[in-house]
Amino acid sequence: MDKSKRKVVIAGNWKMNMTPSEAEAAVRETAELVEGKNGCDVILCVPFVDIDAAIKAAKGTNVKIGAQNVHFEAKGAYTGEISAAMLLECGVEYVIIGHSERRQYFGETDETVNKRTIAALNAGLKVILCLGEVLEQRQSGITSEIVAMQTKLDLAGVTAEQMKNVIIAYEPVWAIGTGLTATPEQADEVCGIIRKTIADLYSNDTADSTVIQYGGSMNDGNAAELLSKVNVDGGLIGGASLVPAKFSKIVDAAQ
Ligand code: 13P
Repeated sequence: MDKSKRKVVIAGNWKMNMTPSEAEAAVRETAELVEGKNGCDVILCVPFVDIDAAIKAAKGTNVKIGAQNVHFEAKGAYTGEISAAMLLECGVEYVIIGHSERRQYFGETDETVNKRTIAALNAGLKVILCLGEVLEQRQSGITSEIVAMQTKLDLAGVTAEQMKNVIIAYEPVWAIGTGLTATPEQADEVCGIIRKTIADLYSNDTADSTVIQYGGSMNDGNAAELLSKVNVDGGLIGGASLVPAKFSKIVDAAQ
């Protein structure tokens, strides 16, 4: 596997944290701390209502702004939902789709994740597609089957050309917000299984150039070792992304 074909991407997922004024301050502080650190792409995925403030604060810096979900329909009677066109007009470049919290608490399935992914890509957004096994699946020894199946179902109908705009985030559900991190070897192994699935679906070339992140209790203490693995091309960071000083240290580890 040729890691040099891929750029490292460090993304923060703020989840349901930060008011617009807090977001503005946190984006500014993060941008100052990561200034000139161009060895990786830096993205902050913020709540919808923070997008405007975050984009203004990130202007002219190397921090890019993403959203945390998008609906699959273009418009209509879908109370509470946000379309890809709305995000694009606000200046959003990336969107997280299929986060395990959406799957666990809000009824997202591989089918709706796939529909959102297709709609986002067709509209011109870049997608951070999240998948990963729950604890019982890991304990039953079916992690590789689960992530391969999720990869296939979630990417159904996505073209090889569109894969240039897809980042996969491998997030073992048991490691999210728990302080339990996958070992670098576990993260590398499963990111490798996802990469092999992409090779089967598309080509070795597409697999070699797809960015696959690890997410789940990544922090400034464990990032360097996780990122040193050949199949781990970055991180999707929850808790530690809320503290600019911690998040910037993860960016440092990716240089
Ligand atoms: P934590 O880094 O808080 O474990 O969250 C990971 C995550 O869910 C990122 O999307």
